[in-house]
Formats: sequence, structure tokens, C-alpha cells
Amino acid sequence: MILNLNDWRQQAKRVLPAFAFSYVDGGAEDEITLRHNREVFDRWQFVPPVLQDASQRDLSLQLGSEKLSAPLLIAPTGYNGMLRYQADLMLARAARKAGITYIQSTVSTAAMEEIAADGSGNHWFQLYVLKDREVTSDLLKRARKAGCSTLVVSVDAVHFGNRERDKRHYRRPMKLSVPSLLNVATKPGWVWRTLKPQGMPGFGNLQPYLPPQYQRGVGGASYFAAQMDTRLDWQTISWLRSQWQGPLLIKGILTVADAQQAMASGAQGIVLSNHGGRQLDGSISPLLMLAEIRAALGAAATILIDSGFRRGSEVVKALALGASAVLIGRPLLYAVAVSGEAGVEQALSLLRAEIDRTMAQLGCTHLAQLGPHLLRQR
Ligand code: FNR
Ligand code: LAC
Repeated sequence: MILNLNDWRQQAKRVLPAFAFSYVDGGAEDEITLRHNREVFDRWQFVPPVLQDASQRDLSLQLGSEKLSAPLLIAPTGYNGMLRYQADLMLARAARKAGITYIQSTVSTAAMEEIAADGSGNHWFQLYVLKDREVTSDLLKRARKAGCSTLVVSVDAVHFGNRERDKRHYRRPMKLSVPSLLNVATKPGWVWRTLKPQGMPGFGNLQPYLPPQYQRGVGGASYFAAQMDTRLDWQTISWLRSQWQGPLLIKGILTVADAQQAMASGAQGIVLSNHGGRQLDGSISPLLMLAEIRAALGAAATILIDSGFRRGSEVVKALALGASAVLIGRPLLYAVAVSGEAGVEQALSLLRAEIDRTMAQLGCTHLAQLGPHLLRQR
């Protein structure tokens, strides 16, 4: 039975081959940050007022020029085609139906043009800056043409995390170990849903730049790894600012100084994130930095947050501490793996119902009424 987002995880663990589940579920090294991301919500408790008429509730909000029906966005995640054929399209469609924003990764399986051709909705592009600046500029040009309204520049994966849970499935890079291959053989449903239509998924956005020998399957991953620019600095952000006219957010910020520098560099906002515990193990949960960063940036800045959100009540805690809205990563990947587009729709509506119920129980009718007065720190 599916009653909450954690139930999707349990089912995904059953239907996905172990290597694919570990890729999504795992974190870096000892997974201290991955666990911390879940434990941290418990540091705040609600102090709910009673006898406030909250019978009519509105969960919508304005984010820049876009309206969202709920304070949720789908986080950018790479290589979703490993979970199910056309997973990116399913995530984007479910976001559209729910009236929320879909953020597409540079290393998504689908090309941004495919998502755009499928229908219009809030579609953002997440950029990993590549060494080749012409390719990087071209990605931005294509994103604009594909109708992506906002650019999210991810800056916390410049030096890739050491994901040991993931690595244990391979004997060489990209070569699954014998036990992991045998495990794939026990998941014929996954093979059917994922590989049957077109074989191993590729990297839609990178296709035009890939040398011929990398055109098919996972070859794009080694191209991407070699092309990631490890020399990014704040000047790179100024350069990107000159290349992109729309709103720009920087994702992967955890310090007050960086948040301030991001705004000074012309960003409209930030995504507070530790990349879901996949990068620097031992790094802090963004939730612990949120109130301080909101105080430093003021009310006008867009401050999104992610890493570990699984319950509507947790989303509400972040909003009360100053977040504009929350990105959801893994749970929606589990939902798409298990039940495709319908699964993502169901997961989003579960989350929405939890946010709505929490608001009601806090006596709030609008998101703007949420604030630190509703919380006490343990
Ligand atoms: C990610 N994340 C990520 N972020 C990004 O900016 N570009 C990317 O391509 C990816 N790829 C990616 C793949 C997978 C499988 C996962 C799980 C995550 C990070 C993602 O955007 C987000 O920050 C975290 O997933 C949020 O944490 P939760 O909700 O997964 O706990
Ligand atoms: C990840 C990269 C793609 O987290 O951002 O897997």
C-alpha cells in the first residue's frame, strides 16, 4: 500500500536492479550527510495555535513571473532513463498537471527539445558548466529556445562525490560486476520497461556534441565526466550572467557569504542544497542554514531548498524558516520507476495533501502566514 513517499522507496527497491537503486538512493562515503538530511527535521517542533478558521486553504505562490499551485519543484536529476524508458517526459508531464515546475538536468536522458515539444509548463534548465564554453553557450541558447524560463547553475558537483554504495556494483567504470549483472537478470520487469524500447539510455542534451564513438548508450557519461569544468569561480557566474537574460539561480549554496555573493553576482536567488548527501559527506543540512541566510538576503530573494524532504510537514517547516519553495529529488524517481507518470502524479498529490493538512492543523490559510512563530527548536 502506498500512503507516503517512503512507501515508494520500498517498492522501488523491489522493482529496480540493485545497481540502479543504489545509484539513486546512495550518498557519498559513509552517508553521514544522507542520514543527517533526514534527522534534521526533528530538531524543530510545531507550536500549533487552535481555533483559527482554516477551512479554505490556498497553497499557491508566485515565483518570479510564474505561478505554482504548490510550493514544490521537481529537482534536476541526471540519467533518469535508467529508471524507466521516457522517465523525464513522465516527470515533466506530471509537474505540468500538478501546476509545479520541472527542472531539467544538463545530463538528463531526454533532450530539452523533447520536453518542450511535449507541452508547455514551467520548465527550467539546470546547467553544469562544461570546459568547452561554446558548448556551454549553445546549451543556454537551446534552453532559451526550448522555453526554459529560468537557469539553475549547479556549483556543488564540480568535483564529483565519492559514492561508494554506487561504486560497489562495478568492476570497472561502466562495467557491472558479475553479481550485479546476475541481479539484473532477476528484474525482467525493469528490463522490459527500461531497456526493451531502445536499449541503454543516452544523454539527450549532450548528443549534438558527442564524438561518434560515444553516441550510443552510457558512453556520454565519460564524455561528460571529462568535460565538467573544474575551474569554476565567481567570474564564471558573471560570464553566465552575460549569456543568460532570464532569471538565474545558483544551486548548491550552504554558506551565508556565498548566498550574499550569489545575489551580488546578479542571481535572482539560490537553491540551498547539499545535493541530497551525494557530494561532500559530513556537510551540513541546508535547513540548518536557512533562517540565517533568509535574514541575510532579505524578503525579496528567491530561496529554494532541497535535500531529504519526504513529508509535507517537512516542507512546511522549511517554509516557516524562510524558504520560498522546496525541490524534491529521489521520491519522485522512485515513483516514476514503480508506476510511471501516474506514480509521479500520485506522489505529488500525496505531498500536496500532506502540506495542506499541515497548514490546516497550524490554522494557516495561505503560505504567507507560515513563519518561525509556528516552530520551536528542541
Ligand atoms: C541528483 N542531483 C542532481 N543535481 C543537479 O543539479 N544536477 C543533476 O544532474 C543531478 N543529478 C542527480 C541524480 C540523482 C539520481 C539524484 C538522487 C540527485 C541532486 C538533486 O537535484 C537534488 O539536489 C537532491 O536529489 C535533493 O535531495 P533528495 O530530495 O533526493 O533527498
Ligand atoms: C548526481 C549528479 C549527476 O548527483 O549530479 O548524480
